[in-house]
Order: sequence, then structure tokens, then C-alpha cells
Amino acid sequence: MLTLGIETSCDETAVALYCDKKMGIVREVLRTQIDIHSVHGGVVPELASREHQTYLPALLGELFKQESISLQDISLIACTQGPGLLGSLLVGFTYARTLACFADKPFIGINHLEAHVTTCQLEHKKIIYPHLCLLVSGGHTQLIAVTGPGCYYCLGETRDDACGEAFDKGATLLGLPYPGGPSLAKLADEFPEDEVIIKNQLLFKVPFFSKGKHSARRHFDFSFSGLKTQLRVYLEKNPATSMSENEKRKIAYHYQEAIVQSLTDTIVRALEQWRVSQVVIAGGVSANKRLRLVLLDKLTSLGVSMLVSSSNLCTDNAKMIAHLGYVRRKQAIIPGSSSGAPLRDPYVQPLAKWRLDELSPIT
Ligand code: KG4
Ligand code: ZN
Repeated sequence: MLTLGIETSCDETAVALYCDKKMGIVREVLRTQIDIHSVHGGVVPELASREHQTYLPALLGELFKQESISLQDISLIACTQGPGLLGSLLVGFTYARTLACFADKPFIGINHLEAHVTTCQLEHKKIIYPHLCLLVSGGHTQLIAVTGPGCYYCLGETRDDACGEAFDKGATLLGLPYPGGPSLAKLADEFPEDEVIIKNQLLFKVPFFSKGKHSARRHFDFSFSGLKTQLRVYLEKNPATSMSENEKRKIAYHYQEAIVQSLTDTIVRALEQWRVSQVVIAGGVSANKRLRLVLLDKLTSLGVSMLVSSSNLCTDNAKMIAHLGYVRRKQAIIPGSSSGAPLRDPYVQPLAKWRLDELSPIT
């Protein structure tokens, strides 16, 4: 059984094939829009939609050509249904559904967040339930208790900027090129080790919510907009333009460190309450080397295992869509509400917003 996955939720146009016999991805063809958006310093939604529309058919043609197959060889078409940029979603979703109708193939709409959360299954077979999942991407920052396949309980989420957004905005303030996250991380990682300063001497305050002020759920929330303001205020006094390269590396290091510490501290606090033996990290920011290192160190010391995908699987891709499409279809469960509300019909509309805890369990 070959599942075709299509992803167009933001600024990556991607198609991939998942083969159940090989229990893995056969091939992916992906086109990033970095060159288009970098001119504007961020994603321009209208341009993103147009790029998807222009390149998606050609990418699919390329995928089929490389595998010497045709649409008739596909058993299932899976496509990101949401959340994401509505225009971009509409392009991929409409295209995918049209293909499915035309070729009379089954179709399934996929939740992009769940695809991130389940990506690690492509490389790691030992998923333990329950586990905690930290989902850190450009649009989302959530700490989730995954109590079983498809069962998500949100323990906390960002109150303002997403973690990837904090990286991107920090990079913009420092005058670094788009995409900001990898640029800022690269600069931070260049900061000489002998100058690395211990945690409580960080230039920026680590965003943190104190116990008692909030209900249990809010206790695990995140906030990153204050950190961005700290950086802005710092740069008003010490303009990036008149800074040495090493000074810039130092600022990037401290900024990244504050984000990493905030995420790590929150996970450690959550583990005190949710005593699980595994933590999964997913989403674009989970490609961050420092986050992977610090978290692995901390979790290992607590006797908790950490699962994270290879970097190219952390950021947006179609492999995760094809894989989850196969998993959800195999279980004959269509994503919908598990809270008693009427099921959302996945054949109808892309959804700009679509929460993980609205999904049905995979049984
Ligand atoms: O998951 P993703 O590819 O797209 C969304 O679903 O949002 O995440 C993109 C986000 C961007 O904000 C990008 O700057 C950030 O992930 N990112 C990183 C790194 N690689 C990607 N942030 C920090 N360090 C990285 N190495
Ligand atoms: Zn994503």
C-alpha cells in the first residue's frame, strides 16, 4: 500500500510516499520558499499560496517520475487539512481532493500538529504511553500529555508568541536573515565555549510562571513575548549595528539559552506531576541542537528517555503527513471531535485552527 502525503500548510511545498510493506518513507520531493520570503523578512501568506499553486503539480510529477509510478499505483491520498495559513492549506487540500476524486482514491485530511507529534514513530519504534510531548514550531508551543495513540491532553501552551516565533523575532532584531530560527541558533552556537556563562548569569530573564499564581494547567504555560521585549530594550541601548561579531554571538547565545531553559524548566516541573518515562520533542524548533543537548542531559539525569527525529523530519515535510495518513486510515478512524461535539467532516474544509485535543483516539 502506497500512501501519498501532501503538505502545503505554510512555506514548504512537499509530497512524499509512505510504503507500509517497507514500513517507511520511500521518497520525498520538497520545495522550500525561503528565497521568496527572505526578501520580505517573513512569510507573506499570499505569496506562499501562489508558490504552492505553481509548484505542487510539478513536484508530484517529479515524485512519480523518480519512482516510475502513476496516480493509479497510489492506495491513499493524505493531505494537511490544518492548522496553518488558510490560503496555503486551500491550495494543497483542493488539489489533493481533486486528485482523489479524479482517480477514485480514498482521501484523508491530516492534522499538521499530530503529524509533527507522531513523526518520531518513523525512526523510533519504542513509543511508550503515556508520554509527554513538547511541540515547538513556528506557530505553536504546547506541552502535551499523550496518554495513548491519538489521545492528547494539553498541559500548557504559549500565552503569546510561539517558540519558533521568538527565535524568528529575535533574529530579526539582530538583523539576521530569514528563516530566523536556524540563523540565530547558528550564531549562538558559534559563541566560544570558554565564554559560556552559567544559567543564573544570563543576560535575559528566563520566562517562567510561578507556582500558585495559576491553576494547574496554566502552571505549564509558556510566554516568549517578554523575552523579545528584553532583547529589544537591550538593543536600544546597545545597537546591533555597532556591535562586534562576538558581541552578537553572545547576545544570540543568551537569547537561545533563555528559550532553552524556559522549555527545559517547564518540562522538568511537569515531570514532577506527570511521572512518565519518555519525553518526545517535535516541530521545527526541535531541530535546535542546544535544545536537544540540554534537554537530553537533563532528562537522562532524571532517568527519562528522550525521542527526537532527525533534523529534516522536525521541520515541515510531507513524510510526516504520508505516515500519519497511513496510520489513521489503517485504524479506520477519521479525525474528529472526541468531546461529544459533532464530528468535523474532514472532506469539507481546511481549518486554519485545529487543536490536537479535538482529535479522536487511534484505537
Ligand atoms: O514546524 P515548522 O517547520 O513549521 C511550523 O509548523 O511552524 O517550524 C518552523 C519554526 C520556525 O520558527 C523556525 O525558525 C524554527 O522552527 N526553527 C528553528 C530551528 N529550525 C527551525 N528554531 C531554532 N533552531 C533551529 N535549528
Ligand atoms: Zn509545522
